[in-house]
Amino acid sequence: MKKIDISSSINGIKLSSCIMNASGVLCCTEKELSEILMSSSGAVVTKSCTMVPRKGNLEPRYFEWNIGSINSMGLPNLGIDFYLNFLDRKKPKKPFFLSISGLSIEENYQLISKANISPNINAIELNLSCPNLVEKKNQVSLGYDFEKIYDFLKNIFKFYNKPLGVKLPPYFEDFHFEKMALILNQFPICFVTCINSLPNGLFVDTNKETTVLHPKKGFGGIGGRVIKPFSLANIRKFYVSLRKDISIIGCGGICYGKDIFEHILCGASAVQVGTQFFKEGIRVFDRLKNEFISILKEKNYSSIEEFKGKLNVI
Ligand code: DHB
Repeated sequence: MKKIDISSSINGIKLSSCIMNASGVLCCTEKELSEILMSSSGAVVTKSCTMVPRKGNLEPRYFEWNIGSINSMGLPNLGIDFYLNFLDRKKPKKPFFLSISGLSIEENYQLISKANISPNINAIELNLSCPNLVEKKNQVSLGYDFEKIYDFLKNIFKFYNKPLGVKLPPYFEDFHFEKMALILNQFPICFVTCINSLPNGLFVDTNKETTVLHPKKGFGGIGGRVIKPFSLANIRKFYVSLRKDISIIGCGGICYGKDIFEHILCGASAVQVGTQFFKEGIRVFDRLKNEFISILKEKNYSSIEEFKGKLNVI
């Protein structure tokens, strides 16, 4: 019987499985991160961290329904020192992606400088798209501020010399895809993660006639099954417009093995699971892996390289 290999490489970072957790979900504490380390996920991604620990926004701040989730967490995390210390103590056998999300550009430089001198980090996933900060009232999220991103990346690569990926918000217009690709193609970016939650959704409780979330007047980031067409579109647009050495990590709407297949067919080299991981817990990684392998068997593929990016247009 043909052996099926679901390993992958993110610009040289080797993953034994192309399935990993999405930043933000069950990856904040020692217990949660340890559980991911022991699971069949191909890598571990941390909750986006800041310089000092944060409690995040007031509750209720997360809600899920049959096809999606809405969150306004507000970056609850234990602070970068905790995550660097965890990494140094545990010396993981799988790649460790430190997600960072400074509240300002200055804080991002501080976080990146700290990560730069940490010997065990495989890569930073720089979050350009946290949609839920009550502190940032009149500020556009960095992911939508193209001028700022260019200057920011130019400054980062003056001193930072490890692999760096960026987690992008969803884009909708061709003009924005082209503009972002033009910027990213000028820098030694290791990967892009497409996509973060769709910002500023609103879910309503019909009976109570209220929002379901408390912070930010009920508005929050939308994730889960309902956002998959947007993840696929963003993966595809960037797959065709980014330099071929920039890997794409797909994120958004992974619930079944079939979703992983679609992300990879559109051009992703690996995928992240958020809402479904929260719903199902750590077993999700084994289930998805088995379902994905079954699909490859049915289709007679033995590795992801055989179909990655090979979406046909009818
Ligand atoms: C949070 C939400 C996000 O979508 C994100 O990218 C980072 C942080 C949050 O609210 O904690």
